[in-house]
Amino acid sequence: MSHAIETRNLTQKFGDLVAVNHVNLRIEKGELFGLLGPNGAGKTTFIHMLCTILPPTEGTAKVAGFDIRRNQDSVRAAIGIVFQDPSLDNRLTGRENLDFHGRVYGMDKIQREKRIDEVLKLVGLKERANALVETYSSGMKRRLEIARGLMHRPKIMFLDEPTLGLDPQTRRNIWEHIQMLNKREKITILLTTHYMDEADYLCDRVGIIDHGRIIALDKPEKLKDELEGDIVSLEVPQPKKYAEVFRGVKYVKEVKVVGDQLHLTVTGGEKTIPKLMEIVRRRGNKVRSVGLRSPTLEDVFISYTGRGIREEEGGVKEQMRLRMRAHMR
Ligand SMILES: Nc1ncnc2c1ncn2[C@@H]1O[C@H](COP(=O)(O)OP(=O)(O)OP(=O)(O)O)[C@@H](O)[C@H]1O
Ligand SMILES: [Mg+2]
Repeated sequence: MSHAIETRNLTQKFGDLVAVNHVNLRIEKGELFGLLGPNGAGKTTFIHMLCTILPPTEGTAKVAGFDIRRNQDSVRAAIGIVFQDPSLDNRLTGRENLDFHGRVYGMDKIQREKRIDEVLKLVGLKERANALVETYSSGMKRRLEIARGLMHRPKIMFLDEPTLGLDPQTRRNIWEHIQMLNKREKITILLTTHYMDEADYLCDRVGIIDHGRIIALDKPEKLKDELEGDIVSLEVPQPKKYAEVFRGVKYVKEVKVVGDQLHLTVTGGEKTIPKLMEIVRRRGNKVRSVGLRSPTLEDVFISYTGRGIREEEGGVKEQMRLRMRAHMR
């Protein structure tokens, strides 16, 4: 079976810096795949190579079955891109931005008009289509960029940080559109993000990238389960006694007594809670309260790298970065 995307030792060097380091990755048709990693991990560079914007220093890839080195035109015809940095013409209307893109892709007037209406509808921008883009909110601009990427009916979409810098509500709205494209329009999606919740919520599979290497790759649930670290807290009478009881239970990995609570490290916390409660009930006691803390993808990243994904960043710094970008434009 051919894959939507298949990379072989894909590598990009900038002088001594290896931005993408021998990546071998296969993405299935129809997948919603997320590349998750901190600033400078190599996400954008990876995407730029797949989109034929940047030739690889080493290795190659097939996108929609076409080699990125030898069949650039075929690759470009099969893909849509939403760049990390905004790239709309603010002095044109939404419709004009889309029309321009359609022309670049050689669509005739009738095709363009039909397709513009379709993509505007897909991203919910029909009403504002004839307004200047400079009057759009940031979420509307992002949706217009997605619409533009869809104009030539790509089978694969690349979304580079689709919700960077957007407020939580707008991010949710973009997520819904991304899901709709994937599930209803059957478009394979490769997105990059450094938001844990985004990767976790949206993606079928996540590749964690750090210093140009994919260091972990799986479904978000699997990645988190591999930590074998759901923490169930139980408030029970005689916690010390129950600590001993639970130490003899196979699926309980660790038991800690914290005040009048027990903290149990288990795999698949949700499934084990009823079993744990049943053990207490059979011994004639009641669980007074129960809590569950799941590991997040942040925990996964930490477990692989020994540091947090946003350690050297922080909210303030990110805002500065965004503002500086806006000034530089
Ligand atoms: N044109 C370039 N010349 C030199 N170095 C570059 C160039 N483009 C990227 N780099 C470097 O390559 C590394 C990877 O950059 P890249 O933009 O791919 O990271 P990223 O994961 O997209 O980061 P971010 O989350 O900030 O967007 C960084 O160290 C960056 O400074
Ligand atoms: Mg980037």
